[in-house]
Amino acid sequence: MTAQYAVFGNPIAHSKSPEIHAQFAAQQGELIEYHKILVDDSRDAFQAAVRDFFASGGRGANVTVPFKQYAFDLVDELSERAQAAGAVNTLILLENGKLRGDNTDGVGLVNDVVGNLKISLQNKTILILGAGGAARGVVMPILSKQPEKVIIANRTESKAIELAKQFKIQAMAFADLRDIRVDVIVNATSGSLNGHLLAVDDAIFAGTELVYDMMYGRELTKFLCHARECGAQQVADGLGMLVGQAAESFRLWRGFTPDIAPVIAAMR
Ligand code: ATR
Repeated sequence: MTAQYAVFGNPIAHSKSPEIHAQFAAQQGELIEYHKILVDDSRDAFQAAVRDFFASGGRGANVTVPFKQYAFDLVDELSERAQAAGAVNTLILLENGKLRGDNTDGVGLVNDVVGNLKISLQNKTILILGAGGAARGVVMPILSKQPEKVIIANRTESKAIELAKQFKIQAMAFADLRDIRVDVIVNATSGSLNGHLLAVDDAIFAGTELVYDMMYGRELTKFLCHARECGAQQVADGLGMLVGQAAESFRLWRGFTPDIAPVIAAMR
């Protein structure tokens, strides 16, 4: 039987993961099947769908909104980075039949920035905007690249403080982001989903080496257009992160590291 993979989510119709994984499989010179599975938004429905999938021959799966926490609770064992992220986006069926949960989102971001966009994070000051699940997932992979400093800033400061404590980094409120110089800004808020700009001082963008938005769409997000107008040297949306997280999942499942650059180019 052709190796079976899937992504669980709700909604899921617009997921690009099947196309991305088909391109990775072509690079590997093998055939896989990768399905989109729509699941009712409940813990029980998610668990039942995952169990069915693995009982009927599934080898690995991705998990997207809104199931990453449920997946975290469901697995038999967790990677260190999934533990730090508090969320699971990748399920791996182990030889002993157990289910392992990993989180490849943060590595996906870092591989896009460092490997694809060729921007080193070493000795840089990185500002992460947002303190929800998306932000939590990228802190550890960013720290692994030996930045000088990582600051987490959030509209609601208390959430930034809580997250910063976990990773021993600095926390700030959006309102206090003045007179600081940073090299790289990562928008990990869900603001761009709704086309929102963030209430941060325009001056923080000036002269930054890279401003990154985890969101992506047909056009550059409003946030990135604004960052560019305010003097960011380079801006990038989250398509590369999407392909990057998929590549790391593929590696975990199949022991083959895909080249993300041609896949990002094809997806544009
Ligand atoms: P996710 O899992 O995508 O991170 P989340 O856990 O709901 O989603 O977190 C959403 C994040 O986006 C939060 O940091 C939120 O800020 P608050 O904690 O202040 O609510 C941030 N966010 C969403 N919309 C925003 C907006 N318009 N301006 C600023 N921050 C916003």
